[in-house]
Amino acid sequence: MPLLTPVASTIPTALAQGLGNPVAVGSPPSPPPGSKIPPLVGADLRVPTRQGDRVYGNLDHAASTPALVAVKRAVDRTLETYASVHRGAGWASQVTSTWYERARDEVAGFVGARATDEVVFTRTTTDSWNLLARALPEDALVFVFDSEHHSTLLPWQAKRTVRLPVPGGAEDAVALLDHALDAHPAAVRLVVLTAASNVTGEIWPVARFAELAHSHGARIAVDAAQLAAHRAVDLAAWDADYVAFSGHKVYAPFGAGVLAGRQDWLDAGDPYLAGGGATRSVSQLSTSWQSGPARHEGGSPNVVGAVALAAAGATLALNRTALEAHETRLLDRLRAGLAAVPGTRQLSIFDEDADRVGVVTFTVPGYDPSLVSQVLSWEQGIGVRDGRFCAHLLVDRLLGARQPLTTAVRASIGLGTTEEAVDRLVAGVRRLVESGPLDEWTHHASGWRLATDPRDAGAAPAPW
Ligand SMILES: Cc1ncc(COP(=O)(O)O)c(C=O)c1O
Repeated sequence: MPLLTPVASTIPTALAQGLGNPVAVGSPPSPPPGSKIPPLVGADLRVPTRQGDRVYGNLDHAASTPALVAVKRAVDRTLETYASVHRGAGWASQVTSTWYERARDEVAGFVGARATDEVVFTRTTTDSWNLLARALPEDALVFVFDSEHHSTLLPWQAKRTVRLPVPGGAEDAVALLDHALDAHPAAVRLVVLTAASNVTGEIWPVARFAELAHSHGARIAVDAAQLAAHRAVDLAAWDADYVAFSGHKVYAPFGAGVLAGRQDWLDAGDPYLAGGGATRSVSQLSTSWQSGPARHEGGSPNVVGAVALAAAGATLALNRTALEAHETRLLDRLRAGLAAVPGTRQLSIFDEDADRVGVVTFTVPGYDPSLVSQVLSWEQGIGVRDGRFCAHLLVDRLLGARQPLTTAVRASIGLGTTEEAVDRLVAGVRRLVESGPLDEWTHHASGWRLATDPRDAGAAPAPW
């Protein structure tokens, strides 16, 4: 329970009287008239390439997204009033506390939470799953596919976890889970599943898995880290029990994440962060803990992160149709472009036509993926990621034992991706396959390096 009762209705007046401009966290400003895609901070960023500075081609949204202008605006306004949360009688503290709780309400709406669900602010998705793992009833058995991101695969007690192999397809995944739930009866069971793969972008039929889990008396927790920026997250419509996602993947780059879902386990579990704010009372003999989100939000809350998340969620929800159309168009273009480059292979768990968010992981014949991403950066000013994307078991399985490669390149689309950047990436891959890199690269312990590289990221002036 908050220590202060929010006083929402009085805030706009108070702000108008000198605490800053009126702000409605929960109804963030609309994008400028005429714009369908909400604008981003740093959209005109230029980066050094062998042809001189070029506009950055951002195809790395699956790692972290740039900030929305609406988020920056909400954060700037919050900082003007910024004070302690649930810890002060001063007016600025009361305003800040109210915004923190309004951000929680906004996020509850963003994830389609039911009235009885709890929304806990965490730092990241990783943090959210570790919190849930700590709050699970002692005898809980967890079911998780090997295809998960390590943050979703690993927080659970190893001895109480049933690992399912990377499925061959969606139907196979359903059958595997059905069989595992039959084979491992227990009073308390939790299925943990990603909504969209961070390696292939493929969307898992979450509602179907929720129905299956519930038909066996199990609960389901959904990792929406890769879905939330691209498609609606809907706990109630999915009939799922928990959901987690991270602010830095939804255009709100300020160290906040979310765990939302059923109250009972969260209220019965030990506080995730023991400390101030999580306690009701402390004596020499005993400590009594809060129930509700405060139980797991020990320490001073990250109000700026919460506001950033709320502003991002509200903006994405408002522009959902334009956003999805933009990303689908670019994804089709990227997939078709790469498919036309001889030998290039795109990874998939399900099949070619599976519904997916804008993530394409691929290999280029004859080239180390780490060199491919370096060449794309240097020759084209394109940002992608290479590696195994914290999903080693999945990437190993998709690349297969016959592949000489153990890693791949991932291009991921978002609001900061343009058609021109997609074309530049495809052209860069094509030129590499047809004629090789334009310069000489050598491999060192730290990775691929140009013989002489005029760029020096360390020389950029610090932002403070
Ligand atoms: C599917 C998925 N789950 C979980 C995570 C972990 O997110 P975070 O690093 O914000 O904890 C990621 C991050 O890449 C992810 O893609």
